[in-house]
Amino acid sequence: MKKICFLAVLLSLFTSLPAEEYPLYDFENYEIGTEFLLKDVSGNPVSAKSYAVVAADPTGKDNKVLHVLLVNSWNTYPEYPLPDGFTAAEFCTYQSVAFSLYRPQVLPKNNDNMQTAIYLGDKKIYQEEHPNYPDQGERGKWHEKRYAFTPVETEASYFLLGLHADTMEYYLDNIRLVRVEKGYDYTDETQTLRYYVEQCGNGKHIGVATPSSWKNVIDLNNDLLDMSQTVFRNFNMVVAEDDMKFDAIEPNRNDFNFGYADALVDFAERHGMKVRGHTLCWHKQLPEWVTKNEDRNSHNYSREELLSILRNHIDTIVSHYKGRIAEWDVVNECLEDNQRSYYYGESYMYDLRASVWSKGIGGKLGWGDENVGGDFIDSAFVYAHRADPDAKLFLNDYGVENRGRKADAYYYLAKHLVDNNIPIHGVGLQCHFKAGELDSAGLVRQIQRFQELGLEVIITELDIASSDKQADEFRTITNIFMEQKNCPNMVLWGVSDRDSWRSGALPLLFDADLAAKPAFFAVRDALEKAWNDILSVAPVPNDARPQSPYVDVYNFAGQKIASGMRRESVNFLPTGIYIVDGEKIMVR
Ligand code: G3I
Repeated sequence: MKKICFLAVLLSLFTSLPAEEYPLYDFENYEIGTEFLLKDVSGNPVSAKSYAVVAADPTGKDNKVLHVLLVNSWNTYPEYPLPDGFTAAEFCTYQSVAFSLYRPQVLPKNNDNMQTAIYLGDKKIYQEEHPNYPDQGERGKWHEKRYAFTPVETEASYFLLGLHADTMEYYLDNIRLVRVEKGYDYTDETQTLRYYVEQCGNGKHIGVATPSSWKNVIDLNNDLLDMSQTVFRNFNMVVAEDDMKFDAIEPNRNDFNFGYADALVDFAERHGMKVRGHTLCWHKQLPEWVTKNEDRNSHNYSREELLSILRNHIDTIVSHYKGRIAEWDVVNECLEDNQRSYYYGESYMYDLRASVWSKGIGGKLGWGDENVGGDFIDSAFVYAHRADPDAKLFLNDYGVENRGRKADAYYYLAKHLVDNNIPIHGVGLQCHFKAGELDSAGLVRQIQRFQELGLEVIITELDIASSDKQADEFRTITNIFMEQKNCPNMVLWGVSDRDSWRSGALPLLFDADLAAKPAFFAVRDALEKAWNDILSVAPVPNDARPQSPYVDVYNFAGQKIASGMRRESVNFLPTGIYIVDGEKIMVR
């Protein structure tokens, strides 16, 4: 029956009716020359040379459109009254605003002048975020734009819609509201990803990175938002895509900014989600006071000073979240992409990336440039461990998921840390894959050899470029995640294709309208299969040998959770699968 329902959902995805639309403005009932008010949301006067006026379609069709010309009028948009009797609350029952855009000019160099914003009254409900706004279609042609917005409570009688432009000319037409078919119902928990992961009872987590744009548009206390619900109903782990990085948390020396990160941790706790911390020590997204160039120590800090900056940063953050952030990416992307060689006699070799940390702190670990050393790696792990001895600590990198020199270098680096008793619990494989790049045998081999070192392996930043195989590739990697015992978490790097850092690649599970893509159903199918496989484990006869009344109990991930427990007490453990006397026992 379930399979039939699933097929029906899939079928409906491909045959789905056009999204329901409410037309707002096509300008056909206006006289050419009718002016629309321009509104500056920052309260600055609008330049007298700026205007928004109904005009003929510049492509020569018999059609009326709105022509907007802004001259030094940053943050200024045309204002559109809501139709009579149509309230702001009704507006908010739709999820997206769509319109056609025509741009006669070449794009300005930095593309900054083409950022769409939508306000309902004085409340911003959408602002296009970097890196998506360069996607402005071809100059001199009409193209469609559609944006999912954040509903707000307001009694406003107008909305603003336009481009966050300085000196820019554009035309708009066919402004409408769109209600989108999601393809599944997240209010029914049995249709979500989280449900199947948790049913398996093996302590695994499926996670997601919350996009940096959340900071500007998502009220983390509003659990009714479509975006929030998509996240907390489908995932039981969350990572901040950018908001816990060095520049976000310590923008000025010893001046820590926890506001948004705290709100995200509160959000996660309210929804029973675990938090991964990303990331404590990286060469990128550093504030200028640390370095102006990511590959050097531009302020010429001494080794001692840099160690003290690193220690203070890690100590303050990890202590702040002690007991609340379960695991940290401590050192991120410290290896060079091109590794020369990786094994030399009794020593491990790897080329470390040049960064403020490797150059300024130095040390013997690593075989890169002679001035590049790895002492910062050992130190970062030790600082983090001292600040929260219960947090799990990870290396994280890309290009190390399959086979090859960098993958080997990653293994030897982790081995070096383990051999030297550095407190590391695992490694992250980012898994930003191009279409066809996933090598499942290579990935399994890589996961398993870290297991031999006693390390966990987490899929930390999964996204896979769109292709006709995208759904299959997501299914394959989800199967690997569920099958590999030392792979407790799989984290998607973003929610919807609209917010992805690889926007053109459409690499995630939800499209720009948060509708579920075939990739979502493939992941859910794989998770459901894992649950069905556990259910179908044949009960093991228990009269084969004399039984001790006391048993050690392990969870499905192989961690001991009780010693010498009375055998009958096992039945009172939380629902899940346990290993008792080497046999799988299911507690319902
Ligand atoms: O915060 C500024 C904002 O003030 C400014 O107006 C805007 C306009 O340029 O830029 C904003 O900063 C951007 C930041 O994301 C937050 O949105 C940066 O320019 C942009 O470069 C940055 O991109 C992030 C990237 O890391 C930086 O390297 C991506 O969102 C993020 O997905 C990506 O994530 C990394 C992982 O941390 C590590 N692994 C690779 C992965 C992909 O690159």
